[in-house]
Amino acid sequence: MQITSHAGLLDLSGKVAIVTGGAAGIGFGIAYRLAEAGARVVIAGRRLEEAQKTAEELIAKGWEATGASTDVSKEDEVQELVKDVLDQYGHIDILVNNAGIFPFNPLASMTSADFDKVIATNLRGVFLMTKYVSEEMKKRGQGGKIINITSIDSLHPSSVGLAHYDASKHGVFGFMKNVALELAKDNITVTSVAPGGILTPGVVSMQSGGKQNTTERFPEYQKMDVPMGRMGVPDDIGKVVLFLASDMSSYMTGVQIVVDGGYLLN
Ligand SMILES: NC(=O)c1ccc[n+]([C@@H]2O[C@H](COP(=O)([O-])OP(=O)(O)OC[C@H]3O[C@@H](n4cnc5c(N)ncnc54)[C@H](O)[C@@H]3O)[C@@H](O)[C@H]2O)c1
Repeated sequence: MQITSHAGLLDLSGKVAIVTGGAAGIGFGIAYRLAEAGARVVIAGRRLEEAQKTAEELIAKGWEATGASTDVSKEDEVQELVKDVLDQYGHIDILVNNAGIFPFNPLASMTSADFDKVIATNLRGVFLMTKYVSEEMKKRGQGGKIINITSIDSLHPSSVGLAHYDASKHGVFGFMKNVALELAKDNITVTSVAPGGILTPGVVSMQSGGKQNTTERFPEYQKMDVPMGRMGVPDDIGKVVLFLASDMSSYMTGVQIVVDGGYLLN
């Protein structure tokens, strides 16, 4: 049996990766690690300017990245993204379904439109991206890696007011397992990472009731009841996604890795 060095296993040179919601927060942590490992990273976000600005930060480090404007809940925009990436790079090897929203909203005040909006981004978005990207991976016949960013809420609720969110993330967990089964014969693996509390602009905005969206000077949110004594940072997730996107995880599919500093042990 031939053994590849660990550096070789983690080398993503020549691979093309799409990271949805990659302009900020966890998505940026993921885009950073994939680009550093040599992948050409397409940062797909709702706002083109933000996605391009983030891509430029990676390019400034000597890595390859592009920004693209895509709302993952919209089928025509997802199809256009896939076509544009193929026109630009010719193939897609890695998809990270990271885009997600988590607006706090107790059931008593939640409307059906509020519910649908969260499901549309967090679950339908994963379905659409997975469907159109996996079709291209199958046509090419060289396998692929699809990684979903779920949440510890895919297993256990973290707070009241996130019933729509928890439904979406449980949904992605189930979707992952079925699709992993369908795509295994094409050597396309489908896995998930379930983060606990990670300090990101989205979390700060939710916890401050929309008053703040920068993670600077926000120490009070570091005090969550985490056995490891700190909230996570985007790179805690980026490193695990790199593992799942690389040949280090060659025999893994249909599984989810919890990255929560031990939070679920409580
Ligand atoms: N931060 C945490 O504590 C935490 C914990 C568990 C899971 N997660 C999950 O991690 C992912 C990223 O979370 P984050 O904290 O970095 O959030 P964030 O709000 O800081 O960043 C999310 C990014 O996704 C983009 N986005 C939102 N809706 C989109 C859409 N329809 N199409 C394309 N892009 C869209 C946003 O513009 C933003 O760039 C989400 O799926 C979230 O549910 C986060």
